[in-house]
Amino acid sequence: MGAGQTYGAGAAPVSPDLPAARLLTRLALEEPEFEARMREALSGAEKWLQATAHEALDPRVAALTGHLADAGGKRLRPLLVLLGAEFGDPWAHGITQAAAIAELVHIASLYHDDVMDGAATRHGVPSVHSRWGERAAVLGGDWLLARAAQLAAGLGSAAVHLNAQAAGRLVAGQLRELTGPGPDEDPVTHYFKVAEGKTAALLSMSLGIGAVQAAASAGDVAALTECGQQLGIAFQIADDLLDLRSPAEVTGKERGKDLLAGVQSLPVLLAREGGDPADAELRGLLAAGPVPAAGVPRALELFERSTALDETEAVMHRRLDRARAALAGLPPLPARRALLALCDYVALRTS
Ligand code: FPP
Ligand code: MG
Repeated sequence: MGAGQTYGAGAAPVSPDLPAARLLTRLALEEPEFEARMREALSGAEKWLQATAHEALDPRVAALTGHLADAGGKRLRPLLVLLGAEFGDPWAHGITQAAAIAELVHIASLYHDDVMDGAATRHGVPSVHSRWGERAAVLGGDWLLARAAQLAAGLGSAAVHLNAQAAGRLVAGQLRELTGPGPDEDPVTHYFKVAEGKTAALLSMSLGIGAVQAAASAGDVAALTECGQQLGIAFQIADDLLDLRSPAEVTGKERGKDLLAGVQSLPVLLAREGGDPADAELRGLLAAGPVPAAGVPRALELFERSTALDETEAVMHRRLDRARAALAGLPPLPARRALLALCDYVALRTS
């Protein structure tokens, strides 16, 4: 498949939670040498991740700190680190550790996020707080974040800086979501600021830290960072769409869970802002904040008939176009094609 071609057009819907190694195969790049190198590096990163997450001395604490690393996940962030490194020297010191750092920060944020959301499960297993309690879950997340910082310290000041900056942006995004838009702030502008922080910052950092660690050129680092930023926002919008469109058997999350929680996702905001008289009932259901459980099936049905989902999808595609455009000046390596295919995959998750 050449750059710019659409991956998987007409293919069956893909699981939104495809782990990175299987995702590589799905991307059908036909670059066996590159794919073998990626697979080996992914398993190297996994070893760092597992060793670091389970490093606590007391086995009871290790079970807690290793819980979500054991539970699985896509490992998208490690894959991005490795793809970023392809634009420099992929054999340079610290690439697999950098891949583990990105996943540790992600997992740490999930420890805290599940407490904030009161989520009972994550990756199909009980969430950390539902097994060990909220106080232990918060401390477990803190510990993983500290371990990521320590790994970064072994890689040098650039890694330390990128890691600290990404963690700060994640927290700032989450805080913005918590506080909601200011009195004069446009809710859609606020939505993008939240998505830039809580989702895009770490995807962007992942591509960036891989490229920096591999000593890629400053121009390539900037292009990859921008690609990660746009891809991350598209990824968040895809998640919003999945919540309204995909059954629990596909996503592992209850359909309409964001509506129940009163999350101001992009489709919710666009439905609320739209002026179509046909959407008046939907606007009424969304206006009061969280949709009561009994109203969720009706809200999902009304969403299907409204234009809000198509509008949301169009916004996602524009962000994916920006992610692809950021890659235009990069050398035509298999990693560039993989990133283009990843952009297609994000869109395909929602269809
Ligand atoms: C999932 O969002 C959560 C995030 C993407 C980030 C959460 C960030 C924090 C809790 C700040 C703390 C950060 C660190 C680094 C310790 P979601 O709830 O919309 O999605 P979900 O359905 O997967 O839970
Ligand atoms: Mg959550």
